[in-house]
Amino acid sequence: MAIELPPLPYERSALEPHISAETVDFHHGKHQRAYVDRLNELITGTPFAEMALEDIVRGAQGAMFNNAAQAWNHAFYWQCLRPAAGGGGGEPTGALAEAIDKAFGGVEALRTQFDELALRTFGSGWVWLVQRAEGGLALAATANAATPLTGSDKPLLACDVWEHAYYIDYRNARAKYLEAFWNVVNWDFAASNM
Ligand SMILES: [Fe+2]
Repeated sequence: MAIELPPLPYERSALEPHISAETVDFHHGKHQRAYVDRLNELITGTPFAEMALEDIVRGAQGAMFNNAAQAWNHAFYWQCLRPAAGGGGGEPTGALAEAIDKAFGGVEALRTQFDELALRTFGSGWVWLVQRAEGGLALAATANAATPLTGSDKPLLACDVWEHAYYIDYRNARAKYLEAFWNVVNWDFAASNM
């Protein structure tokens, strides 16, 4: 049972002008595909070959973990984005908005803290909005391929802060990419993960 590269949930150019079709082509078509292809090579002939991606992430180590976690993180990431013309960006509503108010004092404060954490994250990694086991929301940063999936936090929203996520559009300006991220963020997806 090979792990598949999930198709994008929108057209490759649909996140423009915030995230270009070229970035999406490389990020989904080259980087994510490479993680999936390498993972399939690594699991062939092992007990992991019959496992779901989430279970491989939770059970693997070393290169197999890195490629499985990156395959999962990226599939999650594309769902965290939504074309601005199709409802992306804006403000969260309902139970998610209430939980954000409670944990951060409002969505503006969440964005500020999220951006600070993203800018502080050294090298490659991910920044997450997570729901703790007791129900409250929190922010988390993970290095390289690491993912909340291996812990007790439930991921609600992810921002890929590897340079490959923004170098074509914004060169080394991670802060500009974060502005773009908020313009196409998919709050409904985050809410659906609570
Ligand atoms: Fe990435």
